[in-house]
Amino acid sequence: MNPSPRIRFANSARPVRTLGLGVIGLGTVGTGTLKVLAEHRREIQRRLGCNLQLKVICSRSVHKRDLSWLGQPVKITSDWRKVVHDPEVHIVVELVGVLSTARAIAFAVLDAGKHLVTANKQLVAEHGAELVERSRAHNVGLGIEACVAGGTPVLHAVREGLAGENFTAVYGILNGTTNYILTEMERRGCAFNEALAEAQEKGYAEPDPTFDVEGYDASYKIAILAMMCFGQAVRIVDIPVEGITHIDQVDFAYAHRLNHTLRLIAGARRRAGNRLEVFVRPMMIPTASRLAGVMGATNGILLVGNKGGNTSITGRGAGGEATGVAVLSDVVQIARSIAAGSSISTPFGYENWNPPRIAAPDENVVATYLRLVVRDRPGILGRVCAILGRHRINIDSVLQEPDCKKQHLPFVMTLEATKEKHVTRALKEIARLPFLAEPPLLLPFSDLP
Ligand SMILES: NC(=O)c1ccc[n+]([C@@H]2O[C@H](COP(=O)([O-])OP(=O)(O)OC[C@H]3O[C@@H](n4cnc5c(N)ncnc54)[C@H](OP(=O)(O)O)[C@@H]3O)[C@@H](O)[C@H]2O)c1
Repeated sequence: MNPSPRIRFANSARPVRTLGLGVIGLGTVGTGTLKVLAEHRREIQRRLGCNLQLKVICSRSVHKRDLSWLGQPVKITSDWRKVVHDPEVHIVVELVGVLSTARAIAFAVLDAGKHLVTANKQLVAEHGAELVERSRAHNVGLGIEACVAGGTPVLHAVREGLAGENFTAVYGILNGTTNYILTEMERRGCAFNEALAEAQEKGYAEPDPTFDVEGYDASYKIAILAMMCFGQAVRIVDIPVEGITHIDQVDFAYAHRLNHTLRLIAGARRRAGNRLEVFVRPMMIPTASRLAGVMGATNGILLVGNKGGNTSITGRGAGGEATGVAVLSDVVQIARSIAAGSSISTPFGYENWNPPRIAAPDENVVATYLRLVVRDRPGILGRVCAILGRHRINIDSVLQEPDCKKQHLPFVMTLEATKEKHVTRALKEIARLPFLAEPPLLLPFSDLP
């Protein structure tokens, strides 16, 4: 790295540097980050005690953009390599979104011996180990806070504030789009499609919402969070993922009768033999649980430690400026380390990782919620009960909301705790019954505190 000019503030005896910042990507988060930087420049300067200067901005269409609101002259380029190799830039912020481009930028930045901050969850979940290796090889910082829960500083909390803890589980509502949809369905009793259309109108959901509503976005985030909490590599392919498209408003009516509600939970927990179970799925959670109170596009995380008990943290999971705060918090951490001349700590909080040891999820013993929608006729209950009985599954209760159409009649069975693999097998048989008007829905009950 080129030596940067040392400056001395009037009230400081300590010599400090001017640190140059380059930002690649000028979309939602890039613009939000620059707006926060422009607004909080003085505060950040006071916190840092050294001079952080925005040197260069890059996006494909940057030459067409009006950047007068930045209030300062800055170099612009549409070629990200010019940011990486700009001798005035020490810290590069990567916010381009596209995985292949983000990976190329990230590797080039680290290999050039520069510090990297990224908000790309997919990049970090899939290439985290390689990023760490390269950042260590070049003794540079790697900031990843914005990858999980946007503006909610959960990664810092796990890595720094709870570094003395031994976690047994972490559960999160990590996708604001799906939580907005579910909590609107719950609050207003509207259908999934109506809540989705509204989320798209308000900018909470993409025109193609698949990445969010099918649970993929949350799977990258829980992979990172699990690696951070347990110091164990987690591969995306090992995470069973189930989305929320098959949830109906009637499920909330039944959930409430059972003092529960429904949320898309991304979780990781220790299982026997030091194996880790990682999953993304909709779950029935008690209405009194902490995550049940996480409403709208908010994110919430519950960390379960074996000494400190339950620690929860909630906040904004997306949005340009909220995520920009997380990006700048990483920049501040890295700048502090550089100014103090200290070595950079590992972003995942572990110097040594365990290899992936994943528990089979269907070995879990869980109580479940089974919702069937049928064309009504005599003998339905008997046939379903016969299948459950053959698989040695006990029924806890049978519920039916009044005033439903005979040709599209939902009813619910709650099943006593049993190995999930038995219920899954029974479900396959039930799904073939001729009177079903819709595929059956099976959800686990969770005893989340
Ligand atoms: N949106 C959120 O609330 C949020 C929250 C947390 C994390 N994140 C993560 O933050 C990252 C950025 O998300 P975003 O929503 O800000 O994305 P976005 O709105 O799509 O913006 C992407 C930006 O990258 C630029 N870009 C793309 N390819 C480029 C290339 N080859 N060279 C130069 N610039 C290029 C685009 O330039 P042009 O506009 O000029 O084409 C655009 O300015 C993603 O990894 C995302 O997962 C987003």
